[in-house]
Amino acid sequence: MKKYIVAIETSCDETSVAIATKGHIITNIVSSQMHVHAQFGGVIPEVASRMHVEQITLVIQEAMTAAAISWDDVMAIAVTQGPGLIGALHVGLQAAKTLAFIYNLPLIPVHHIASHIYASAVERDFLYPTLALVVSGGHTQLVLLKAPLEYTIIGDTQDDAIGEAYDKVARLLKLPYPGGPQIDRLAKEGHATYPIPIPKVDGKYDFSFSGMKTAVLNIVHHADQVGESIRIADLATSFQEAAVKQLLLKVDAALTDYPVREFVLAGGVSANSYLRQQVLELPKRRPSLLVSIPPFHLCTDNAGMVANLATYLYERHMFAPLSIGVHPDLPLVG
Ligand code: KG4
Ligand code: ZN
Repeated sequence: MKKYIVAIETSCDETSVAIATKGHIITNIVSSQMHVHAQFGGVIPEVASRMHVEQITLVIQEAMTAAAISWDDVMAIAVTQGPGLIGALHVGLQAAKTLAFIYNLPLIPVHHIASHIYASAVERDFLYPTLALVVSGGHTQLVLLKAPLEYTIIGDTQDDAIGEAYDKVARLLKLPYPGGPQIDRLAKEGHATYPIPIPKVDGKYDFSFSGMKTAVLNIVHHADQVGESIRIADLATSFQEAAVKQLLLKVDAALTDYPVREFVLAGGVSANSYLRQQVLELPKRRPSLLVSIPPFHLCTDNAGMVANLATYLYERHMFAPLSIGVHPDLPLVG
């Protein structure tokens, strides 16, 4: 029976293909290039595109084999259209268009951030209005959903994204890429003994992380100059506690001002153990609030979340012609 959606995600450095039906992600294969980019201390877009080209057909095949389905069982092809790296997105979109063309299937373009948000809505839909805190390598946003798939961005970062700040701080501490998980691990061993100021930001729900990163840089430089050694775990804890405190301050302000029934964490940084712990404590102050965090395997980039959101889009017939292109800066709204 035609009931499966095959989804492709290649927006950054994971080549991923997943297969889902409504309410159930059947298989979610992720081939990560991280070990290659780690040698350069960050993602090299050209290398990412080339590796996607090498991997994409293999990962499609692996996903189909793992799910034990045939193309006759597939009802649509979904793909991340943006935002992301232009060359990387192209590889996924070309593969998706080819499959849609040869098997005569509808094509469902998916917004990367929307798919991160809906990673917590696999088995059931959210309770609306929903507030999502999106924390990834490229985004830090507060997104209000008044109804399914209706997004309003109420807060945004004025400079760095939080994942970017984690990665830059990790680099300053000479930790390998990607630095987020390294800081998360180290911070468990330290104490917040270094002062990292929380910046004043004009927008009530907006964020800023570049000053926090500079504060870490200044602490490292000062220690170098006076010949002191840095207590790396303490510095990791200090940065993390300040960064997460800033997030929670803004979340609290938004939850006070908007009649939200469910709060969701989304994006790669939602894998952070300290952030997860803090977010799970929100209902202590707001007992009627439902809090959802994605399972670890759906936090960082993966096609499972794309396939899942595509099941919602399929019901609304949100299909696109094969003439669409990628959109590296695809807006969430409009
Ligand atoms: O969503 P994602 O996989 O890619 C983007 O869409 O950007 O997010 C990647 C980001 C990286 O900055 C990475 O360091 C961060 O998520 N990250 C973490 C953790 N795991 C991944 N940051 C903090 N703690 C973690 N455990
Ligand atoms: Zn992402």
